[in-house]
Parts: sequence; structure tokens; C-alpha cells
Amino acid sequence: MAGPRILLIVGGGIAAYKACELVRLIRKGGGEVVCVLTEGGAQFVTAMSLAALSENEVHTTLWNLKDEVEIGHIQLSRQADLIVVCPATADLLARMAMGVADDLATTILLATDKPVLAAPAMNVRMWRHEATVRNVARLRADGVVVMEPDAGEMACGEFGPGRLPEPEAVWAAIRARLGGEALPEPEAVEGDEEGEGLGGLSPDLIARAEPAAETEPDAVAPAAGPILVKKGKAKAAPPTDPDAIERPERHAGEIAAADPLADQPDFAGAEHRPLNGKHVLVTAGPTHEPIDPVRFIANRSSGRQGYAIAAAAAAYGARVTLVSGPVALATPPGVDRVDVETAREMAEAVAAALPADAAIMVAAVADWRSKDVAGEKLKKRGSAPPALQLAENPDILATVASGRKRPKLVVGFAAETENVVANAQDKLKRKAADWIVANDVSGDVMGGADNQVHIVTKQGVEDWPHASKEEVARRLIEKIADALA
Ligand code: CTP
Repeated sequence: MAGPRILLIVGGGIAAYKACELVRLIRKGGGEVVCVLTEGGAQFVTAMSLAALSENEVHTTLWNLKDEVEIGHIQLSRQADLIVVCPATADLLARMAMGVADDLATTILLATDKPVLAAPAMNVRMWRHEATVRNVARLRADGVVVMEPDAGEMACGEFGPGRLPEPEAVWAAIRARLGGEALPEPEAVEGDEEGEGLGGLSPDLIARAEPAAETEPDAVAPAAGPILVKKGKAKAAPPTDPDAIERPERHAGEIAAADPLADQPDFAGAEHRPLNGKHVLVTAGPTHEPIDPVRFIANRSSGRQGYAIAAAAAAYGARVTLVSGPVALATPPGVDRVDVETAREMAEAVAAALPADAAIMVAAVADWRSKDVAGEKLKKRGSAPPALQLAENPDILATVASGRKRPKLVVGFAAETENVVANAQDKLKRKAADWIVANDVSGDVMGGADNQVHIVTKQGVEDWPHASKEEVARRLIEKIADALA
């Protein structure tokens, strides 16, 4: 079947070189790419490279008489199945949000009736600036898919979110946006005849450039399948469970966890990371409290928020111990994971992991366990159901916060279904925590991809905007890094 037709707008940023790899991935996946290179983009990559890789003419200006006669920018904007802006700079996002149409790229974006996906890349402060936050929110409200940038070390030397998502992730997002399951796998198209990958892009509308000299064998572009987890380049802090990272497919329904260390310059610059030299302890997931050999008490926690926090702490340079209840997630790169089942096992593992500079207790610990665990499976007796006697579990957070080895910063979570902030303020005092991250779990937060939290401290309450669990994790780790600095 025909592959997707992508109109790729290459903005002007240092990450523009990665657009070349994206072109290769799209083509390898059976897609067709036509590139539009902005004036800024042309400072970083040449039209020649994009033409050679895409085997299509590259469009650079609104004022090209030949283009206007042959296709016209309006038609150009409508030929594709999807318009991808990569990298999407702060300036380009702003102009998109405002509906500016002062060059070919923005004119196409305004004229198109096709879906648009943007992969942002910019300095961390620019990404965090209110204006960019506003522009991204505006674009998302308008239906543009704006990907979350990766976090990591930036070309400018600063650290945080703003790095262009890896081309594999952009390709995965393209596939997801267009219904990836319908697309051919790369192997299936490897031997495609010239022209078959055109995917219905009418050659009389988009002039096809003479194919450049054979593109070199694809030595670097990885397979363009859906990316779940890939191994980072961490040397100093290897994951303790490489198996879980290398074979993520073993867990059905596992989340797509972007490797926060991917493509970063190893751990060579680790001493410059905000949490370098700190030990961060994280609890995550539910606990399972056995009733008999086959039954247990549990809750809906997926562990995603805790795992995202552990991943962000590792990416920010911390040594991370993750004490995890039973979840179907891979160990984030650079994280030491200790698996437990019950609350009492979790309490023991936490005590063994101390001392730590910060403890972030994200686990949804079962408050109660069955008082007597039956040695054999409980049977229906044909009369009344068995009365389950419960005993209270130890409060791990309160124990750590009032213990001899208390970390400098103790952060708890509060899963509430009503009076979210008031209950969290009460928990802050009751458990002697420094901060409580409060969230309303009456919706689909538990197991979902997003979260909306309030940071409750002795000083007051910060209401954070609705965001992905990864974004909440990054913000929290940045705040923790500031507090520990
Ligand atoms: N927590 C813990 N040990 C427990 C219960 C909770 O360490 N036995 C921690 C959680 O990891 C979380 C915080 O305490 O950081 C609050 O958890 P939550 O379940 O909301 O609080 P509870 O103390 O169980 O209060 P309640 O169920 O009454 O709301």
C-alpha cells in the first residue's frame, strides 16, 4: 500500500541536522517526503542534502515563479497527508500560533487543511517562557500536535527540556498520528522500486528532482518501528535490570518511555548535572497484600508517575534507587530498581536504601493488609463469605520523615478524590513531609498518561498546569535540584 506523504518544514535551529535523519526514516518506512526549508533552517542544513535524501525538490521561498506556475503554495500545503515541523523553533511556534504568513513555511501552515505535527527544539528557558507556553497551548487547542521536547544537556550548555525529540520518536509520532498500524514496516519497503514509495504524490504537482547520486547505505538510521525503550549510553550508572530495557515487549501494555539519556554525551559531563553526587530515593507503583496464595489487595496505581520521576532524577545526574511495587514498566536507564510486593517489604527496602538526599514517595501503598494470610486458597463454603480481618500497614513516608536518617528533602504524594489541597495540607503536617504533591485521582489519573498536581509546602500552594507525567516529573526534579543546591 502507499506510504504516508509528509511535507516536512525544517525550521532554523541547531537541531535542524536531525531533520535529515528524519527524512531517511520516513523514506525507509515507505513514506514520501517533500521538504520546505526556512531561511533559518538553511543556515544549518542545505537544500541539497534534503533534496538528495528525499529525492524531491526542496522548496525554500514563496517567491519562486516556477514553483508557483507548477504547483503553487496552496496546492503544496494540501498534497501531504501530514505536515511535520521539525525542528519547530520558538519563533516558528509563535508565528504559527499567531497565524503569520510571511514566508513559504508559515503560508503553507496557514493554508493547509491537513493535520500538523510539531517537534519543538529550543533553549530550556525559551521552552519554559510564558510566551512559548501560551503559544504551545494555543496551537494544541487549535489541533496541532506539539510533541514534548526531550530533556537533557543543550547545545548552549544549559540543561532541561527543549532538546528536539529523537528522529525515531518523531517518526513514531507521525505513524501514531496517521494510524501507524496501517503503514508498511521498513523491511517490506526496503526493496521498493523507484517511485513506488511516492504514495500517490502526484508528480505533476510536485516536481521531482533528478535523483542525486545514490544515497549511501543506511548505516545509521535505525529501524523505524514503534519506539518503546532504547538503551542509553550511560557508562557510569548502568541500569540494574538491562533485561527489562532490552526486551520491553515482554510487558503487554507497557508505556512508551523515552530514554532520557539517549544521544547525550555519555556521562562525561555528569559533574555538570544539577543532581550530580546526590542520592534520590523513589517509591513507585502499588503494593500487593496477599489474602491467600492466589488473591491479594491492590489498587490502580500503574507506577508511571514514579518511574517518570526516577527517570528524570537519573537524567539530572542523581544516583537513583527506585523501590517499586509490581508494575509492568521497564527500568529507566541509570536507575537502581528494587522490586517488592507488600508494604512491609517496601518499608524494609526503603530503610535499606537510606541515607539519601531526597526521598520521593510516589507509591500508592496499601493502607491495610490481610491480618492472617491463608496458607491455602480460601474456598466457598456454601454459606457466608469469609470475614477478612485487616491490619494497618506501616506508614513508610511518616517513618522516613521522622527517622534518624531523614533525607534533607522528603516529598510525599497525596492521591485524593475530594478536598485535594486541604487533605494534602493535613498530610503534610501529619507525615512531617517537606512537600506534598497532591493530585485528584477521581478521573483517569491512575494509569493515565497525564497528571495535574498542586505542590503543597509550608510556604503555600503551587498549582501546576495539566501536563504529561513526564513533564510533571521534570518540573518536580528541577524544583528538587534547586532545593538541594
Ligand atoms: N504512604 C506511605 N506508606 C503508607 C501509606 C502512604 O509511605 N502506608 C505515602 C505514599 O507513598 C504517599 C503519601 O504517603 O506519598 C500519601 O499517601 P496516601 O495514600 O494519599 O495517604 P494515606 O496516609 O494513605 O492517607 P489516606 O488514605 O487517609 O488519604
